[in-house]
Amino acid sequence: MQPAMMMFSSKYWARRGLSLDSAMFDQQQQQHTGDSLLREGFKMSRRTSFGRIDERPDKEVACTSPEPGKTTIIFSVKNEVGCLVKALRLFQERHVNLAHIESRRSKHVPTEVEIYAEFNCTKKEFKQLVQHLKDHVNIISYNTPQQVWSADADCEDCVCVLGALPNEEGIPWFPQKIAELDQCSHRVLMYGSELDADHPGFKDNVYRQRRKYFVEVAMNYKFGQPIPRIEYTEEEVKTWGVVFRELTKLYPTHACREYLKNLPLLTQHCGYREDNIPQLEDVSTFLRERSGFTVRPVAGYLSPRDFLAGLAYRVFNCTQYVRHSVDPLYTPEPDTCHELLGHVPLLADPKFAQFSQEIGLASLGATDEDVQKLATCYFFTIEFGLCKQEGQLRAYGAGLLSSIGELKHALSDKATVRTFEPKTTCNQECLITTFQDVYFVSESFEEAKEKMRDFAKTIKRPFSVYYNPYTQSIDLLKDTRSIENVVQDLRSDLTTVCDALGKMNRYLGI
Ligand SMILES: [Fe+2]
Repeated sequence: MQPAMMMFSSKYWARRGLSLDSAMFDQQQQQHTGDSLLREGFKMSRRTSFGRIDERPDKEVACTSPEPGKTTIIFSVKNEVGCLVKALRLFQERHVNLAHIESRRSKHVPTEVEIYAEFNCTKKEFKQLVQHLKDHVNIISYNTPQQVWSADADCEDCVCVLGALPNEEGIPWFPQKIAELDQCSHRVLMYGSELDADHPGFKDNVYRQRRKYFVEVAMNYKFGQPIPRIEYTEEEVKTWGVVFRELTKLYPTHACREYLKNLPLLTQHCGYREDNIPQLEDVSTFLRERSGFTVRPVAGYLSPRDFLAGLAYRVFNCTQYVRHSVDPLYTPEPDTCHELLGHVPLLADPKFAQFSQEIGLASLGATDEDVQKLATCYFFTIEFGLCKQEGQLRAYGAGLLSSIGELKHALSDKATVRTFEPKTTCNQECLITTFQDVYFVSESFEEAKEKMRDFAKTIKRPFSVYYNPYTQSIDLLKDTRSIENVVQDLRSDLTTVCDALGKMNRYLGI
């Protein structure tokens, strides 16, 4: 894969979300399938059911849902004599008893073997074990029994990777006030400073330190605060500049009209220039005025459930770090170039914003299975969506608009394009190491929104949700009283509309 051709590696896609029911090494329960997906997680590999280890996809599908009290980890080692023994000795040295272990050949790195291990230990022991393992093996992912460790105050800074637990009715927790998004945004699956061995910045200590700084900024951020301004280094600005220059050459012929309308405004109001990396705070202020969206910094990868919950409140989680400078047109993960050039211009469009919010609202309290379907719809629209304008295909998906190679490919006659229909699109496999087999086209954001709205009706949950923009909270519509409150609001809006129509009629003499 040419880095310049495809901006995102397989691991990038892995992190942006895979079917974690596919991710299990064997027969794990799927309680947190949706929560096991990553920052912008998507259903990745439906074709596999993974009844057998060798049928599972490669290491991009990695998170697991441990049984209560169990911790799981997946790591890879070289497929050489003695490597596995050495790795297992690391557990022994930390006095950690393995309860279950499996291995499989890595499909991603043919010279490696992936190991799935299940064990019991304290939170503190786990932290030490991970530190120890990191020096010797490539850790792909891990899950921890958050509920068991919640009382362990010794290790506050240990990464929690499970989502919030369901309530007694079995409804997964979700934020009901915008401030509660702090819980979602801080529940990163992996910190952005923990780079994998094949990350371009893995051996660059300066870059790793810089990534730690961005993690701190994001983890300290709380709703309502101004987003800290970043003093980007000369090297970071140069890297951004290359990406900006190359992509802006393609936009006039490849990007949708809404994108082309908003990009100059971002230049004007937020400093979108080749020699300047825009600040998230400025971007957030701009978006709020345009579409009611805001952005907030995020340290690493969120589950799709947590990520989509942000969209329900018109909040977009954005990374602030810049990819490694060794190859500006390649990144194994979403960075600020992807967020600012791929996502932000469209988030400024009110209809696109509403469409994005629809997906988010549909995800609140939904089952893991439904969250996966929504994440797949997100993937094929907000990340890889196409639309038809003046009889021509144009891109509106951020994954396309931030990738030179795939942007060209998606609009070429080599790409297969189908109509976006959430019912079928949600079952589409998302390819990991190559361009997508299929792209989905919508006539308009309005049309896509209506389709998503219809699809949301099929989501299994015993209530409907209503976003209250005045209180920035979610009202649950599950009884006559809660519905009455919404009807009151609607009645008031309708009165305003009727009054306006009456005035128009009088003015026009109709
Ligand atoms: Fe994205």
